[in-house]
Amino acid sequence: METGNKVIIESRQGEALVTEGGKPDGKKLFIESYGCQMNFSDSEIVASILLDQGFSTTGDFNEADVIFVNTCAIREGAEQRVRKRLTEFKNAKKKNPDLVVGVLGCMAERLKAKFLEEEKLVDIVVGPDAYRDLPNLIGRAEEGHKAVNVILSKEETYADITPVRLDSNGVTAFISIMRGCDNMCSFCVVPFTRGRERSRDPESIVSEARDLFEKGYREVTLLGQNVDSYLWAGGGLKKEILTDEQRAQAVNFAQLLEKVALVNPLLRVRFSTSHPKDMTDDVLHTMAKYENICKYIHLPVQSGNSDVLERMNRGYSREWYMERINTIRRIMPEAGISTDIMTGFCGETEAEHRDSVSLMEWGEYDFAYMFAYSERPKTQAERQFEDDIPEELKKKRLQEIIEIQQESSMKKTKAMVGKVHRVLVERTSKKDENKWMGRNTQNMVLVFPKGELKPGDYVDVLATTCTATTLIGEIVR
Ligand code: 5AD
Ligand code: SF4
Repeated sequence: METGNKVIIESRQGEALVTEGGKPDGKKLFIESYGCQMNFSDSEIVASILLDQGFSTTGDFNEADVIFVNTCAIREGAEQRVRKRLTEFKNAKKKNPDLVVGVLGCMAERLKAKFLEEEKLVDIVVGPDAYRDLPNLIGRAEEGHKAVNVILSKEETYADITPVRLDSNGVTAFISIMRGCDNMCSFCVVPFTRGRERSRDPESIVSEARDLFEKGYREVTLLGQNVDSYLWAGGGLKKEILTDEQRAQAVNFAQLLEKVALVNPLLRVRFSTSHPKDMTDDVLHTMAKYENICKYIHLPVQSGNSDVLERMNRGYSREWYMERINTIRRIMPEAGISTDIMTGFCGETEAEHRDSVSLMEWGEYDFAYMFAYSERPKTQAERQFEDDIPEELKKKRLQEIIEIQQESSMKKTKAMVGKVHRVLVERTSKKDENKWMGRNTQNMVLVFPKGELKPGDYVDVLATTCTATTLIGEIVR
């Protein structure tokens, strides 16, 4: 799944996010999110829906009345981790029999029979399009019934819900601009767990960005599985049935990006994730035109070999992808670029793997998320191909790719030393409480003395030295 930044995904850093906030009275919600940024953003919608019902949130599950785990299904490992966590929560139920435990998100559909009926691990199972039904489902669970809603919608975008910003630094926030995915990459479970692609009304997106800016936020990340296919032609109008005229009048991603950039020059705009087959030059020119649109693109490649890409149903070849990267570098020579890549997809030969190796060397990415292929239920790959690459070989190939990327990250980071970077101050550095951390436009992390600065300020920082992924610097002004 492209998210995600990407996040993405069973927690990319392998960490769960526990979120806190809200009113001190009423029932208490504990929510833990795994996976992509979209899932974290969904947890903020869930919290908003429940805060409206008088709930408050807590970071201690022992004092919660309702525990939710927002799950990710992208790779198999994520499932095991969630099961373990749910077992811990089930034990907490022994102490507090009124406690309601629910599983939300991408695993909901697949695991409803298992978790709810067979293993009785949870009381509620709710899919990503059914969060408005939560107050009702919690009520049912409290009456002792099993409560399930995993219906996927073609329309739901939660456009009217103002997310509660959880675990927030007050400076950076996510805005979900679309939901679902229509791409059907053969390895990917997302189209099955998150349903059809639908775009959100641009006015609601712009007003959310404006509202965040007025509250002191200085950076928004526009989220979607495939932001380049964003298209808004008016409520209820599906992309597939648009007339040429309607299509010409519709708001596309480049136009949306511009609208958000115009909210205020002091509001930085990022987005994730782009798809190589859909990323237009228009988007790149819009990025180049506005200083506050960050010069950073996450462009997942998945494989460096055209035959593998075909089996993956990605809709582009190695050459097409390379042309897209060349175009990014031509239009924005300073842009940071990252990617996602997978090793050991069905039938991947040594020669095909070598193409991924050479592409990674050629791409010189600033950053990459790298995975061993993991077969997912219902996907085209599961139905059509054999998962025939032994686990050790997948891992060996992955290690080779990781080593190339480490070198590339080091090279990119070192090249930034000795230069002055415009940084948005985000929060105290985790390693040194006398320092701030922030990012430059290329999404590179900088750590520097606090001086008179506060989160939300912009500052010029001279990078004096670095680790593999962090620049260490001094304030210039
Ligand atoms: N196995 C391994 N990695 C996967 N991804 C998506 N599906 C799978 C899978 N079945 C990766 C892709 C995607 C990222 C978010 O997760 O690289 O871009
Ligand atoms: Fe991304 Fe493809 Fe999955 Fe859609 S189907 S979320 S484009 S990997």
